[in-house]
Amino acid sequence: MRSALAGSPREIVGADIEVPVVTGGTRRYVNLDVAASAPALRTVADGVAEVLPWYASVHRGAGFKSRVSTELYERAREAIRAFVGGRPDDAVVITRNTTDAINLLASALPERTTVLVFAVEHHANMLPWRHGTHHGRVRYLPVPASPDDLVAQLDAALREERAGGMAPDGTERAGRGPILVSTTGASNVTGEIWPLGRISETAHAHGARFMVDAAQLAPHLPVDMARDGIDYLAMSGHKLYAPYGAGALVGRHDWLEETEPFLWGGGAVRFVTLDDVMWAPLPDRQEAGSPNVLGAVAMGIACETLAGIGMESIAAEELAMHAHAVGRLSAIPGVRVHLTWGLDQPHIGLVTFAVDGYDHGEVASILSAEHAIGVRHGCFCAHPLMLHLLHMDDGSAAAIREALRAGESPALPGAVRMSFGLATTEADIDAVADALASIAADGPGWTYAVSPATGEWEPDPDPRPWPALPLAAAPVGPAGAHLLRATAGEAS
Ligand SMILES: Cc1ncc(COP(=O)(O)O)c(C=O)c1O
Repeated sequence: MRSALAGSPREIVGADIEVPVVTGGTRRYVNLDVAASAPALRTVADGVAEVLPWYASVHRGAGFKSRVSTELYERAREAIRAFVGGRPDDAVVITRNTTDAINLLASALPERTTVLVFAVEHHANMLPWRHGTHHGRVRYLPVPASPDDLVAQLDAALREERAGGMAPDGTERAGRGPILVSTTGASNVTGEIWPLGRISETAHAHGARFMVDAAQLAPHLPVDMARDGIDYLAMSGHKLYAPYGAGALVGRHDWLEETEPFLWGGGAVRFVTLDDVMWAPLPDRQEAGSPNVLGAVAMGIACETLAGIGMESIAAEELAMHAHAVGRLSAIPGVRVHLTWGLDQPHIGLVTFAVDGYDHGEVASILSAEHAIGVRHGCFCAHPLMLHLLHMDDGSAAAIREALRAGESPALPGAVRMSFGLATTEADIDAVADALASIAADGPGWTYAVSPATGEWEPDPDPRPWPALPLAAAPVGPAGAHLLRATAGEAS
């Protein structure tokens, strides 16, 4: 079957792929794990294929292909800047992903910087700020009960930080050092869209800078750094339908320029002697090593394609699908949707839920094995927020940590998340709702067990054959071992 989107700018590579199910035969794969990593846009895959024959070294290559590749790389940078509404003098540094981008900014903070972060963040926007190599201090603020609470908490914390002295967490405030407020643009756990304009106003009113983790924002909503007063923005190509290994940090150039590079090596320098190094200006200064030209090009094409489709309409469609999904799921006895702020707040297309009586991993495994539905489960790299949503106190968290330290395998808390993208339809959401209703009412239609090899819930047995793909015969870790065994059996 040819996808309804074939030939349109929204066409997704692999949207029609059928996957095996344990009960026999195949079904169209329903990809509802787009927030983790989005499939490639057709424009992106075709664009990369078109550019590939022209691929050559960038920057110092004098050959014609090098000139072409260099130009494409720089055009990609500008496409990314335009897509997020970056200012003309903002640095656009091509990184590996959002994590890399935030670590880069963390490494460039001036001495005595204080970073204010809410406890809802993805670990990518939580851990780099406490990394030993950066020059600041991070202060975590509690999960806000509402956008108004968020702004009030932030305002109070900024006032306290400006005043100096001891912080409530017992650490010495940085006093007159710079302050950076770093928040997500949209939650990867609950889908809530954060009030960026209000956060920016509050931060700037206290002389702080504002950084947005746009991993979940950029693919789903229009972003305008200049309009919304966003000083820094981090994003990932693989969440933007360009899974070719590039990301970006866009923002004010001074901190990134006044510090030593995050990575040291070729490309980041102007002149080197055995006892000295003269660093290059931005963006080269923060792009040491050979850059990911094709990844940047893929990301640039994705930005242009999404802008052409219209981010406003993508956001409106996702909001409608979110309401549909929450409506369907909430009507199923035993299914509970996790939200921080409630449905009156805008959301991206992402819903996290629990099914009473089932481990989150088991639900995800059933959806995959019997219904060909791909979702994500666990804590979504946001442990503190999940502990909050699951009402787990410090004692329970400590007990899990201690059990892990003792080498035990405690059941880890978590939930199931479905997340939507350009190709998601209401029928996809209905497929999940119908499957959950049947699980809640009648239980699974297959047997499942926690695999001792992976610690994950898996169908037992798992008769699904492995697709014939490159590297399929290569040795892999335990997660794929049973699939390879199944393939070998089928082929013989
Ligand atoms: C909100 C958020 N921030 C940061 C990240 C990290 O992105 P990456 O793994 O591409 O660095 C993710 C990934 O899921 C995310 O959802």
